[in-house]
Amino acid sequence: MSRPTPIPHPAPGATLVLGLETSCDETAASVVGRDADGRAVILSNVVLSQVEEHAAFGGVVPEIAARAHTQAIGGIVRAALEEAGVPLDDISAVAATTGPGLVGGLIVGAMTGKAIAASRGLPFVGVNHLEGHALTPRLTDALAYPYLLLLVSGGHTQILLVAGLGRYERWGTTIDDALGEAFDKTAKLLELPHPGGPNVERMAAGGHPARFILPRPLRGEKRLDFSFSGLKTAVRQAAQAHAPLSEGDVADLCASFQAAAADTVRDRVTLALARYRTDHPGLADPVLAVAGGVAANGAIRAVLADACARHGVRLVSPPLALCTDNAAMIAYAGLERLEAGLIDAMSAPVRPRWPLDETAAPLVGFGKRGAKA
Ligand code: KG4
Ligand code: ZN
Repeated sequence: MSRPTPIPHPAPGATLVLGLETSCDETAASVVGRDADGRAVILSNVVLSQVEEHAAFGGVVPEIAARAHTQAIGGIVRAALEEAGVPLDDISAVAATTGPGLVGGLIVGAMTGKAIAASRGLPFVGVNHLEGHALTPRLTDALAYPYLLLLVSGGHTQILLVAGLGRYERWGTTIDDALGEAFDKTAKLLELPHPGGPNVERMAAGGHPARFILPRPLRGEKRLDFSFSGLKTAVRQAAQAHAPLSEGDVADLCASFQAAAADTVRDRVTLALARYRTDHPGLADPVLAVAGGVAANGAIRAVLADACARHGVRLVSPPLALCTDNAAMIAYAGLERLEAGLIDAMSAPVRPRWPLDETAAPLVGFGKRGAKA
C-alpha cells in the first residue's frame, strides 16, 4: 500500500470529495478538497496494488481482481479517511470510477461509493477513469484549459485535447495494442517478470538500440493514431531467429524495442504539437501533459521533452504516483464535476467501454484489451 505524503488541510467547511478507483488491478481511495485559496489539495491517497496476485498469470485476471477489490475496498476507504483525518460527516460527495475497465471491479467501486453516499445523503458522482487521468495535471499543476494530453498506460495510448470539463477531443488512439501493453508483451516473450515496462527499461539500459532493425508503425502518416502490434511481432520474430537468447541478446532486443517505441511516440507527438500550436495560436502557456504508467519511461520522457522544446510547449508530467492509477484523480474529477453541478443518479450504470470523446469514431481493434485504462 503506498501513501504519498498528504498536503496540508483545506479551510474548515471546504468541499471534500471521497474518491474510489477499482477499474483494474488497484484498489484505491482518496480524499481531495480545496484550500482557502481555491487550490486542490490531496488529503490522502491510498493505493493497494494487486500486482502480486496477478504476477503468476503474467497479466490481470478479471475474477481475481474483482474478488480482491471486494476484500480490500472497506479497509482502503477507512484508511483514506483516517489518513486524511476527516470523518465521513465532513465529506461533501462521493466519486467512483464507473468506467471504462473490468466490469467486476467497476461494480465493487460503484456500489461501495453509492452505498456510502446513500447512507449519508451525499451526492454521488460517477467518473470516467480517463477523465481522471486527463484532469490530473489540473490537480497537480493548476493547468488552464485547453491543453494537450498524451495518455500512455497499459490499456490506452491516446492524444487528447482537453478543452474543458467534459470536453475532450480525441486526436489519436491506438488501432491495436496500447504502448504499455506492447512493453508488457515484449517482456513476457523475453521471459522478463510482470509488469513488463520497468523490466524492459532496466534491461534496455545495458543494450544496443541499433542492433535489431524494428519497424516504426504508421511513421510519417498524417493521422495521429498509433499501432504497436507489428512492432511486437517483429520483436517475437527477432527473438525466435536468435534463440536461445543470451542476456546480451535480451538487452539488445529491449533497447531496440524501446528505441522503436520512443521514435513512434516522437513522430506522433510532433504532429500533434504542430496541430495544437496551429489550432490554438494565442495560448499564454501551451502545455503537453503526460499521464499513464509509461510516463515513467526515461526514453519516452526524453523524446517528449525534446519535441516540446522544439514547439515552444511546456511539458508537464505529474508525479508518477499520480500518473499511474490512483483515486486522487477520481476524487479530483469528482470535485470538478460537483462544482459544475454534474452529479449522477444512484441508478448510474457502470460502463466497461466508455470513450472520453463519444463523438470519435471507434477504430478497428480499439479497446481490444479494454481491461486497463
Ligand atoms: O497507468 P498504469 O499504472 O496502469 C494502467 O494501465 O492503467 O500503467 C501501467 C503500464 C504497464 O503496461 C507498465 O508496464 C507500464 O505502464 N510501465 C512502463 C514503465 N513503468 C510502467 N512502461 C515502460 N517503462 C516503464 N518504466
Ligand atoms: Zn489508468
